[in-house]
Amino acid sequence: MIGAALADHFSARGWQVQATTRRRDQVDEAHPFLNLAAPMGDLANADVVILAAAMARIGDCEDDPDGTRQINVDGTLAVAQGMAGQGAHVILLSSDKVFDGTVPLRDRNDDPCPACEYGRQKAAAEAGVLALGDQGAVLRLSKVLEPGLELLTGWARELFAGNAITPFHDLYLAPVPVDLVVQLAMHIAVERVAGIFHCTGAEDRSYVDLAHILAEEIARDPDLIQPGSCQTANIPAAARPRHTTLEMTVEQSRWGLTAPAFEVTARTIISGTSNHAA
Ligand SMILES: NC(=O)c1ccc[n+]([C@@H]2O[C@H](COP(=O)([O-])OP(=O)(O)OC[C@H]3O[C@@H](n4cnc5c(N)ncnc54)[C@H](OP(=O)(O)O)[C@@H]3O)[C@@H](O)[C@H]2O)c1
Repeated sequence: MIGAALADHFSARGWQVQATTRRRDQVDEAHPFLNLAAPMGDLANADVVILAAAMARIGDCEDDPDGTRQINVDGTLAVAQGMAGQGAHVILLSSDKVFDGTVPLRDRNDDPCPACEYGRQKAAAEAGVLALGDQGAVLRLSKVLEPGLELLTGWARELFAGNAITPFHDLYLAPVPVDLVVQLAMHIAVERVAGIFHCTGAEDRSYVDLAHILAEEIARDPDLIQPGSCQTANIPAAARPRHTTLEMTVEQSRWGLTAPAFEVTARTIISGTSNHAA
């Protein structure tokens, strides 16, 4: 999802972009083959490499720690080191899950303290990219949303049909629109800055709050929202932290980018999403 948005954004601004794929039937000049489970051969030289490919589901990493580590750490760092060796600036997309979710607005200089395998893998990949010195940047993200999000489209369909939905009252997110992620990645790429960068929403709120904003935006009955608990769902404990926000002081002072309010991101995404659902 984010890789596609990055490719579109950079192409639209005149960059020559190659977006890798692991699907042989989609390989062409603009989409070279890359399988992070077994990276081999040479990728073309690049000024900037953004490492967006990953096994990004917490449950997948818990279920298959060795297989996912091969992709998220070993394969990722093999590409990072190979491309940096040819002079590229390397940007790794990482996650708030390098922290344990107990503290809001985490300081970027806090030591990683992941509570899940996905977070441990991201922390290991971060260390490898930061070891590239002035050629390595880490961009940590909270939940990234784009219009057309399946969850919201599904909820909207049910509400339009007059059916109840059951969002979780005890599952939180600090959403950030994918547009802000690509904007920040563009700054890092253009300036070739190294170090740790953050891009999250300003505050964590529940999926029930998100559902209420949706119902309001599409003028449906809020009584159709019947809160449930994620305790009863098959969601690993580490996938439901209380806090996912990260401080964005550097991004604000350097580029004027601030963490967007929950309400603003939700309404922006929903106004795009309701078109998909209508
Ligand atoms: N989305 C978020 O909310 C969020 C939040 C924090 C951090 N991040 C990080 O941001 C990055 C992008 O996330 P996303 O949401 O855009 O993920 P995504 O939609 O799941 O995309 C991941 C991409 O990685 C590719 N991939 C998986 N295994 C691969 C392998 N062995 N070799 C090569 N490519 C492989 C997938 O290919 P296929 O299409 O073939 O499956 C897919 O295109 C990830 O590193 C993720 O950890 C995302």
